[in-house]
Amino acid sequence: MQHIVIVGILVIVMAVLTYFGLDSIGLMPVEASAQAVSIDWLWNWQVIAMSFLFALIVVPLVYSLVVFRRKKGETGDGEHIEGNTSLEIAWTVLPLFAVLAFAYMGAYSLGETNRVDPDAIEIRVKAQQFAWTFEYPEYGIVSTELHLPLNQQVVLKMESADVIHSFWVPEFRVKQDVVPGRVTEYRITPTLVGDYKVRCAELCGTSHAYMEAGVIVDTKGDYAAWIAEQAAIAAASQTPEGQGQILSVKYGCLGCHSIDGSKLTGPTWFGLYGSNVELDNGTSVVADDAFIKESILDPNASVVAGFPSPSVMPPYTLTDEEIANFIAYLKTLK
Ligand code: CUA
Repeated sequence: MQHIVIVGILVIVMAVLTYFGLDSIGLMPVEASAQAVSIDWLWNWQVIAMSFLFALIVVPLVYSLVVFRRKKGETGDGEHIEGNTSLEIAWTVLPLFAVLAFAYMGAYSLGETNRVDPDAIEIRVKAQQFAWTFEYPEYGIVSTELHLPLNQQVVLKMESADVIHSFWVPEFRVKQDVVPGRVTEYRITPTLVGDYKVRCAELCGTSHAYMEAGVIVDTKGDYAAWIAEQAAIAAASQTPEGQGQILSVKYGCLGCHSIDGSKLTGPTWFGLYGSNVELDNGTSVVADDAFIKESILDPNASVVAGFPSPSVMPPYTLTDEEIANFIAYLKTLK
């Protein structure tokens, strides 16, 4: 009996120490959405349960190893113990209630994160290897950055152009797969102004790790200003080069091609048009209309030296008009 009291006290002490230890190392990033509250609440109770179970296993184990160690000269068998009905009932019934309690808490938390605000702003999200594109249908805006207004629920209607991706902003806590052939929904109410990042959380190909995009939570005023600015740009984009820029966002080109000269998975577009391009077969070619067109329709025909061969870029089927617009845009990048 004395042992049980000592072990009981040690289990409680160990559980408390484990919980505060885990809590102090900051397992979670900042909480930046209304949906995160119930998820963090559930997570906290799970850490409490884990700390207790950890102590419940480790303390009796170590205590037994030390206190009931075989003494010198002790050669007989240990005491034979056969069954303990009340113990078996206890360790069946107590976990059953623990599991039921967590099932209820999980269902409650899921309900909270899915709570629908009828005034939610709709934003369309397109995922493809290896870029995110955000469309604000009300304003005709297409962007590679997701801007969200503070304290306003948004519903993301997400589609994939190729394989399964997953939309994940750790600070928002909620994660949702983006599956080809269907539209998945993601509801979020940002509660903290800041710059975050959406990461792709589903292994989707060679550049999966780089499939990121900026997520910016703005105050209502900053958000309105951004919308106005982008809407003006969208209106100005009726020119061929403007259309070309929209295409490059729409097809996700900018995930692999930079427009500032930096090297990504593919060659930069900065200063590309009209330049002399070294190919991996040792020849070189001027980046003119014909070369650009060929590189879009059949990326493997000529691979630029220093980049993966065969090319990792899939062929894109663009109309002649789209290609002309795109070339007009390329010409502006110098
Ligand atoms: Cu998209 Cu991983």
